[in-house]
Amino acid sequence: MSGSIPPPIGLLAELTHRCPLGCPYCSNPTDLEKRGAELDTATWQRVMREAAALGVLQLHLSGGEPAARPDLEAITATAAEAGLYTNLITSGVLLNGARLRALADAGLAHVQLSLQHAEAAAADRIGNFRGGHARKLALVEGIHAAGLALTINVVLHRGNLDSVEAMIALAERLGAGRLEIAHTQYHGWALRNRAALMPSAAQVAESRATVLAARERLQGRMAIDFVAPDYHASRPKACMGGWGRQFLNVTPSGAVLPCHAAETIPGLSFPRVTEQSLAGIWYGAEAFNRFRGTAWMPEPCRSCDRREVDWGGCRCQALALTGDATQADPACALSPHRAALLAALEAPAEDSLAFRR
Ligand code: SF4
Ligand code: FES
Repeated sequence: MSGSIPPPIGLLAELTHRCPLGCPYCSNPTDLEKRGAELDTATWQRVMREAAALGVLQLHLSGGEPAARPDLEAITATAAEAGLYTNLITSGVLLNGARLRALADAGLAHVQLSLQHAEAAAADRIGNFRGGHARKLALVEGIHAAGLALTINVVLHRGNLDSVEAMIALAERLGAGRLEIAHTQYHGWALRNRAALMPSAAQVAESRATVLAARERLQGRMAIDFVAPDYHASRPKACMGGWGRQFLNVTPSGAVLPCHAAETIPGLSFPRVTEQSLAGIWYGAEAFNRFRGTAWMPEPCRSCDRREVDWGGCRCQALALTGDATQADPACALSPHRAALLAALEAPAEDSLAFRR
């Protein structure tokens, strides 16, 4: 079997679900894993070595907030020694210049810093953490001083679409090499808050126009990635580059998943790194093979000429919208379940947000 399956490119290591922020658009599960269930340092270090041996090139240290782990430097050092390109996905509020230098010394290459809004009061309100925005801005000097590459990441939703232009200007001022502007994907807490986060079609169109104009203007100075929202699209994206094709995800307690929301899919069981090798799971686990390739697809995907372009979209989104992960993703206008997506789009907007906790 492994002969026909390419190795993964990237590993998302969710070191912990603990996080001082409480963003309502978080894609972590609503039932967060507790500190006591987290893998220990030695196990994470073994995972890093196994990932490199398996062929993984990029490691994304994530969470929750990965800096909540005091052993972040030790895990990073092992990953870098094993040859992985290491990226830290962080809210920044638990870091300082000294820790950034220690991480850079350990081999960290890149920091992806999240911002919630261009204005402090609004940003702190969205992140549910007073003073967070100021701490993030103060950290940027330390990121540059440590010689780390910087990407600013912004998740868009109804509560910050007024700030797209200002956030682009802020990322430019902060000296980011790259800005990633991504509309919310509705998994975990974001799915729970969907009716309060969902933008209008006009807002989505405006955000796209703003980003495209800025991309043109800033060419050669700051790269801008724009992730359009599936709910306003007529064809889905290839979620994770296709199930079991490019990425794997390890949860704080060591479950190995094809995507961060896979545990919502009933009937699948996910082996842990404490039970099997990463390679054994990637090539052999039933959960990874369940939606790999095209053989599992129903119509209209099975006979569609995009089946090896988007790989049928997102299984977790199909589940969330239709109750069945095996169905065509309703983000596709050809899906027989398109009405489920349209109903969610047309649902009355809500004001109250459930903050992640
Ligand atoms: Fe993709 Fe399936 Fe839609 Fe074709 S029918 S575009 S494969 S989701
Ligand atoms: Fe699970 Fe898209 S998030 S397949």
